[in-house]
Amino acid sequence: MLSIRSVKSDSFIGKCVELRGWVYRKVSLGGKIFIVLRDSSDIIQCVVDESKVNSRTWSNAEKITRESSCIVRGVVKSDPRAPGGYELQVSDLEIVGLSEWFPIRGNEGVDYLLDHRHLWIRSRRLQAIMKIKHTVLEAGREYFNRNGWWEVTPPILTSSACESGATQFEVNYFGQKAYLSQSAQLYLEALIYTLDKVWSLTPSFRAEKSRTRRHLAEYWHLEAEAAWYGMEDMMKVVEELVYYMVERVLRDRMDELKFLKRDTRILENAKPPYPKITYDEAIEILQSKGVNIKWGDDLGADEERVLTEEFETPFFITHFPKEIKAFYMKLDPKNPRVVLGFDLLAPEGYGEIVGGSVREDSYDALLKRIIEMGLNPEEYKWYLDLRRYGSVPHSGFGLGIERTVMWIAGLDHIRDAIPFPRFRERIYP
Ligand code: 4AD
Ligand code: MG
Repeated sequence: MLSIRSVKSDSFIGKCVELRGWVYRKVSLGGKIFIVLRDSSDIIQCVVDESKVNSRTWSNAEKITRESSCIVRGVVKSDPRAPGGYELQVSDLEIVGLSEWFPIRGNEGVDYLLDHRHLWIRSRRLQAIMKIKHTVLEAGREYFNRNGWWEVTPPILTSSACESGATQFEVNYFGQKAYLSQSAQLYLEALIYTLDKVWSLTPSFRAEKSRTRRHLAEYWHLEAEAAWYGMEDMMKVVEELVYYMVERVLRDRMDELKFLKRDTRILENAKPPYPKITYDEAIEILQSKGVNIKWGDDLGADEERVLTEEFETPFFITHFPKEIKAFYMKLDPKNPRVVLGFDLLAPEGYGEIVGGSVREDSYDALLKRIIEMGLNPEEYKWYLDLRRYGSVPHSGFGLGIERTVMWIAGLDHIRDAIPFPRFRERIYP
């Protein structure tokens, strides 16, 4: 089977080809019907000329509707007026699935389009974004596989919270309480004791209270954990990984970036090493810019946006106050008010795309943090065990795939970085 993209080439001019796809647009003009056909690769204008086809093909062309599936045969021609420079002079048109009146024109409101998401994913915009996501995922896998990391498969049904209990989805597990995973981290930590360096790609779930431009209730989480790695080692992995993704998208998805009108200069300049600032410095920058914030406050989307104005590449923020970070982060021995944790923020207002840290590897210190944070040590018994049987210094991080796609593709909302987004109010298709 030939793809539309493959026949849009000078070597096909004058050749008879068969294409399969869906009707993207249709216009009738005098004795001609112009059908723009789409498949996963591209679109092409197909010209049906009443004087050149048999009556069956002409009546099919008259009857066919937008989004119908069909098989078209014809000769490839070069035509500077056709979109993309090539068109198909149709000799034969066969309807496979005649479409009813398609309920989307493209200018409908957000909620209407979410309600019709199963159909709206056919749009060229979402198609382009899904291709970029494919390449981001491919690059992520390739980066780890080429650098000696083991891919593992942690569970989604879990017994304890990794991040805040406030954002946990509870499920009825055969009459007992269980939770949908917020992060594979705790399980990845167990796995480094046998595989040293591990990574996983899983869905993560967050019962986020508010609907924002960058929060989903279900997202794809790329996580890594490694024995013997310290803070600097892990930040190096993060910047290499992110740049590997950016480079791969620039190499393989330029057409899609252009279609989305992405300014690629920022991406081209996103070469590591990335700047690092401490939380203290971030607070100083924010205060100097008139933001009302004091030491100890968490950085929300608004604060992050202001900080991103200072940088043209992704950048790290490190050493956050322990109160605003998770219980498992190791306290800085030089200043135990802060943790050995880091976030990577994407520029241009996007903000956090990665969160990571050194993990507390002492049994006593970890138990103390669990109690301090008001968590139940019983629930973390197995996790504490890891510090009893051959504890090892280690670090890890989690990268939000949709956040990363959002930045690379230049999207203004996270919803389009996933085909079937989940938000608070209700589940759409
Ligand atoms: O910063 P977070 O909460 O860190 C963790 O879950 C760690 N346990 C990861 C680890 O160290 N293994 O989440 C990591 C990343 C964030 O930086 C963000 O990119 C993404 O996951 N993320 C979300 N993406 C979309 N919607 C949400 N509600 C998200 N919450 C976090
Ligand atoms: Mg975070």
